[in-house]
Amino acid sequence: MRLALIGDIHLFQTRVHPSRLVGKRLLGHTNLMINRRFRFNHRVLGPMIDRVAAIKPDSVLLSGDVTTTSLEDEFHDVATYLEPLSQKVPTVIVPGNHDKYTFRSARKNRMGTHMDGLLPESFPHVRPLHKHWRLLCLDSAQPQLLWSRGALGYEQMQAVTAFIETLDKHDALVVLCHYPAKMPAGIPHSWGHALAEAKPLHEMLTECPARIVFVHGHIHKPWQWDPANGGKPGNGDNSGLMYLNAGAPCLTSNRYPFGQGFWEVDLPGDPWGPLELIHHVPEEAHGQGGHPSSDTMVQPNTDDSSHTPQSGHVSHRQLDLRWVIHRVL
Ligand SMILES: [Fe+2]
Ligand SMILES: [Fe+2]
Repeated sequence: MRLALIGDIHLFQTRVHPSRLVGKRLLGHTNLMINRRFRFNHRVLGPMIDRVAAIKPDSVLLSGDVTTTSLEDEFHDVATYLEPLSQKVPTVIVPGNHDKYTFRSARKNRMGTHMDGLLPESFPHVRPLHKHWRLLCLDSAQPQLLWSRGALGYEQMQAVTAFIETLDKHDALVVLCHYPAKMPAGIPHSWGHALAEAKPLHEMLTECPARIVFVHGHIHKPWQWDPANGGKPGNGDNSGLMYLNAGAPCLTSNRYPFGQGFWEVDLPGDPWGPLELIHHVPEEAHGQGGHPSSDTMVQPNTDDSSHTPQSGHVSHRQLDLRWVIHRVL
């Protein structure tokens, strides 16, 4: 079974009515205008959706942070981008901290309203994937005044514990959660940016006899590692647990000038069989390389409006990309 894993898209709106810029969103929007908007290039999003569709996944998983400050238009634009995919392929998303950015957006369930059918109605959510494999979706996002700390909460943690205790070595599980339960050695992390139940969750999954692939986002660097393999790559076939970080597909850097791409995960029929992992990374097809211009430099698209979200200002047809694949396992 083939999964496509898409990380932190962080779609945003630069033009926001002043009445919406109160509380935490004012801080977030200020950060967006002076920092974040220059590092995210959402022109890669359309080609990436096309590429995901081209690998013909059986299911698409999004690890959250699809928006920046949980505005209705941000959710609407993401849903529109995903539509060609989500109409054909089962697609599931879990919330990130930016998708419950304000207390009001969380209280009004803005994500559930605008991403109808993609967000599970309740958490934890379990669904079958393939033979012995199941998907466990967690809601780790909570609105916070200043921090970006995540939490599952007492009730969800109790339900997860009860579910994990039912698993044995014949079971296999993909956990989809915005926050990682464990970070590789050497990666800096802070209290205010971590998951409250990270330690007990990681210990619970480590002790579970089933094979577990924990997929997450939140940290904007794609990686894959096996805690029982000294923090190095490994597919968890000894320890039973591996972590896969989706990264941020639209975040540009010297290493990823056209964003961090997405993961393809081919699950074996046998829970302990070889798991194939491919990282799809975009490069410019005909160019000199280097950083593409940021979203703010892009003019409204007039000749391909069918592919452009109504409230968005980005066009994905102006980039000509080719895809490089990195086989990790
Ligand atoms: Fe996040
Ligand atoms: Fe994020």
